[in-house]
Amino acid sequence: MVQLLDGKAMALQIKDEIANEVRNLTAQGHRAPHLAAVIVGEDGASKTYVANKEKASHEVGFTSSVYRMPESTTEEQLLETIAFLNNDPDIDGFIVQLPLPKHINEQNIINAISPDKDVDGFTPINIGRMVLGEECFVPATPMGICTLLKRYNIETAGKHCVVLGRSNIVGTPAANLLSRKGFDCTVTMCHSKTKNLKELCLQADILVVAIGKAEFVTADMVKDGAVLVDVGIHRVEDATKKNGYRVIGDVKHSEVDAKCSWVTPVPGGVGPLTIVSLLENTLKAYKRR
Ligand code: GUN
Repeated sequence: MVQLLDGKAMALQIKDEIANEVRNLTAQGHRAPHLAAVIVGEDGASKTYVANKEKASHEVGFTSSVYRMPESTTEEQLLETIAFLNNDPDIDGFIVQLPLPKHINEQNIINAISPDKDVDGFTPINIGRMVLGEECFVPATPMGICTLLKRYNIETAGKHCVVLGRSNIVGTPAANLLSRKGFDCTVTMCHSKTKNLKELCLQADILVVAIGKAEFVTADMVKDGAVLVDVGIHRVEDATKKNGYRVIGDVKHSEVDAKCSWVTPVPGGVGPLTIVSLLENTLKAYKRR
């Protein structure tokens, strides 16, 4: 029988833990942690993500601010905003929501973020520290995946973990973290040039799918009893829904789930843990200061 890695329930529990800690801090006369977000342009999904991050911040007692900048913002203007956020003592951590408009060099922007306020864990300093196993901010989505596996006591040591996707935000850090001490998986990372993708997936005890293609993973690619983590988030039109769409993942759950021992649902799996991980990083940034 397949069991759910219930990210929604776990996120509620962890938010409760964070809220308690914030209550204790403010009861002692300390100010609340502050998370800021920068959003450039009008991307609908990005607006939703930032709104969800702001809502979650308030739920745990953080203060927050959102810097909304137009699509026409130049790289120089965005760098000025980042310099301001780096230097504002009232801001513990901030994120720049990706993707950015095409005319802005994303890496130049990330490189300008102070590593001490980089609660997304995207700067070279934090990525480097993560790879070395040093104290750092870990990117929120892979951190969420790790939290799910740890708190559900999923056995990982010596298991073959196949990661589909090599993005800087998910695949690359997830593959690194799961191979390191504490998880001790044998990791295979697959991407668009991988040959025998299906054969490799079939060898996976733990399959982490972050390939960005709706319902890409089908039942013929998954071993019986596998642990399946679906990072995908895609909106598809659905006239039966009030908002006109529903959310699906990178895995065809209708046929794959029955083969698995554990599976993250979409929605309600990795997504809620991603936001909670950002809150955890922000609390850590606050405590460091
Ligand atoms: N775009 C998609 N995921 C993320 C994320 O975790 N952080 C930021 N800043 N942008 C994103």
